[in-house]
Amino acid sequence: MSLKGKRIILGVTGSIAAYKAAHLTRLLIKSGAEVQIVMSTSALDFITPLTLSTLSKRPVLHQFQKDETGEWNNHVELGLWGDLFLVAPASANTLAKFAHGLCDNLLTATYLSARCPVMLAPAMDLDMYQHPAVRENLKKLQSFGNHILDAESGELASGLSGQGRMMEPEHIIERLDAFFSPKRDFLGKKVLITMGPTQEAIDPVRFISNHSSGKMGLSLANAFKERGAEVYVVSGPIALSVDQGQFHWINVRSAQEMFDAASSLHSKMDLCVFAAAVADYAPAEPATEKIKKSEDELTIHLKKNVDIAFSLGKIKKPHQLHVGFALETENEVQNAQSKLEKKNLDLVVLNSMKESGAGFQVDTNRVHIFHRNGTSVSSTTAPKEEIANLILDEIKKAPVWV
Ligand code: CTP
Repeated sequence: MSLKGKRIILGVTGSIAAYKAAHLTRLLIKSGAEVQIVMSTSALDFITPLTLSTLSKRPVLHQFQKDETGEWNNHVELGLWGDLFLVAPASANTLAKFAHGLCDNLLTATYLSARCPVMLAPAMDLDMYQHPAVRENLKKLQSFGNHILDAESGELASGLSGQGRMMEPEHIIERLDAFFSPKRDFLGKKVLITMGPTQEAIDPVRFISNHSSGKMGLSLANAFKERGAEVYVVSGPIALSVDQGQFHWINVRSAQEMFDAASSLHSKMDLCVFAAAVADYAPAEPATEKIKKSEDELTIHLKKNVDIAFSLGKIKKPHQLHVGFALETENEVQNAQSKLEKKNLDLVVLNSMKESGAGFQVDTNRVHIFHRNGTSVSSTTAPKEEIANLILDEIKKAPVWV
C-alpha cells in the first residue's frame, strides 16, 4: 500500500460531513499513514477532538496556543512535516479563506505554510457548490496547483439531492493511493516533445510569435520523466524556470530550427509529442539590419513554415506513436479530427480557446483527446500536471502501444 509511512495532515472544517472524517481517519491509519488532524474552530461544533484524536492516535490541533503556558502549536513546522495536506471536508467558508489567503485559525495558517501538495474535498449543499463564488474559489485554488476531489452526487443533509456530498472516504483513499504510487510505465521509452512558441525573425530585433508559455509541454515532459521515460525536449523560447539537466534539452528559436532538431532525433524515438505552437508563417526575407521607420505602411511578405508534425508523420515507422495538439477557435472537433489524418497522428489533444481555464499562459487546462480509432475522452478543468498524466494514460490505450 503506497500510503504506508506517509504523513498526512488532515484538515477538518465545519460541515455536516465532518462525521466522515472519523471514518477517513480510520482508513488512513489502517493504510499505514501517520495522521495529524487540524480542525477549524467551527469543526468543533460538528465532531469532537476526542473522537478524532483517539482514531488518529495523536492529539488533535485546533488552536494556536497549546495551553495556558503560552506554548504554541507551530503551524510552520506542521506545514513542513506533511507529505500531503488533505482537507476533508472542506467547507465553502474555508475554501474561500484558502483562495484569498485569510489566516484566522490554525488550519488556515497551516494551509499557507504547507509546502506539500494539497488536496481539497469540498462538501456543501448543491446550490452552494454551484454558486459562482464557490466555483471561482475552486478555480483559483486549482490554479495554485491544489487538487480538488470533486464532490459526489446524492442525498444531501438539507434534504435536497445533487452534487455536494464530500467524496466518500474509500474513494479519497483510492485517489491518495494513486497519487503516491509512482508508476514507471514508460520505463525504457524514448520520448520527443516539441514545446513552447517559435519566433520568426523580421529583422535582428523583431519577430513574429504567439502566446504559448510552454507550460503544457513542460508538464508532459515532467510526467514522462516521472513515469520512467527518457525525455528529449526541443523547446522554443520560454520564460519558465526548468531544471533542464533532467532531460535531453535543446533550445531553438525558429520553426526551421525546431524541425532540424526534431528530425535529427526522430528515428531514435518511440513516441513524439508535438506540443509546440509553431508559427505557420515566417518573414520570407528577414532584414539583416533593423528596419527603420519610414513609410506610413509596411508590408512584410510571409512564407509558409515547415510543418514539423506533418513532415515527421510522413516518415513515421509502425512502432512509433505520434501525438499532436489542436488549438481551435471554431469547428473544434471536426478540425481536430482532420489533423489526425492529415498529420498521421495516433492521438490529437484538442484545446478549445472558448473554454475558461484552458489554453495559453494559464496553469490549468481542459482537453478532449481523440484516438485514431474514433474513440475520445474529455477531461475536467484541472492543473496541467493532471492533464499531462491523463494524456499519458490515453497514449497507453493506443493500438501501437499494446
Ligand atoms: N505543428 C507543427 N508544425 C507546424 C504547425 C503545427 O509541428 N508548422 C503541430 C503542432 O505542434 C500541433 C499540430 O501540428 O501538434 C497542430 O497545430 P495547429 O497550429 O493547431 O494546426 P496547423 O496545422 O498549424 O493548422 P491551422 O493553424 O490551420 O489550424
